[in-house]
Amino acid sequence: MDSFAALTALDWHIELGADEAIGDTPINRYEQAVKPAKGPIPKTGPTSNIKPIDVMPVIPQVEEAAEDIARILASRCNDLETLRNTIATFEQCSLKKGARNLVFSDGNPAARIMIIGEAPGRDEDQIGKPFVGRAGQLLDKMFAAIDLDRKAEGDAALYITNVMPWRPPQNRDPSDEEIAMMLPFLERHIAIANPDIIVPMGNIACKAILGKTGITRIRGHWTEAFGKPTLPMFHPAGVLRDPLKKRDCWADLLALKARLNT
Ligand code: URA
Repeated sequence: MDSFAALTALDWHIELGADEAIGDTPINRYEQAVKPAKGPIPKTGPTSNIKPIDVMPVIPQVEEAAEDIARILASRCNDLETLRNTIATFEQCSLKKGARNLVFSDGNPAARIMIIGEAPGRDEDQIGKPFVGRAGQLLDKMFAAIDLDRKAEGDAALYITNVMPWRPPQNRDPSDEEIAMMLPFLERHIAIANPDIIVPMGNIACKAILGKTGITRIRGHWTEAFGKPTLPMFHPAGVLRDPLKKRDCWADLLALKARLNT
């Protein structure tokens, strides 16, 4: 390949969304195609229609089955370590292939408040922890203002996760299919951590756990998700883009603090 052809190929990859080299050796994803799910797939029940790859109309069936498989796998997890390991070996979500690290959670799982963000960005993907980039720094400052801290114990503790554990390419929004596929794991995550209050931040988190978007309208209004009191808030990345949102954020933080004190 001459340098012109190499540059053209590189441009083409950048246009497709490759913005980072994640390994020294190229992998031909076309050869890997779509494999039947790894791990324990039940022989009966909702996934029994999985057929060998050569007779299967590949995409729709795999996508549909992925959600069922996720639900079955998630239901078998009784602690966070098992849940994390189960997600780490869940091959059905294609975002995993482009991600550098699984981003499961950060903070104290015993915290009374569980924050749910959208998906890892570039910094989170590199480090393997949620909210460590600019938005994360703002999140830490926001919650420090009401004496909550992801490194703290007891009443000051905070627990943080995302709807998606892998970074979507070029930080695009996760698709509805990707959200639906990973939701059983998030639901199990919430059930195991068992926080007193859930705080979904931004539209994607609200769509996933409340089935609603329109964060400007729904933020600051208490509701319920998975049987827990839930307070939707602006995503800190939205606040960075529009600092006028800080005022509403402050009101929501005070509402959260008041609820914790009652
Ligand atoms: N935005 C999110 O929603 N989550 C992260 O972990 C980082 C940025």
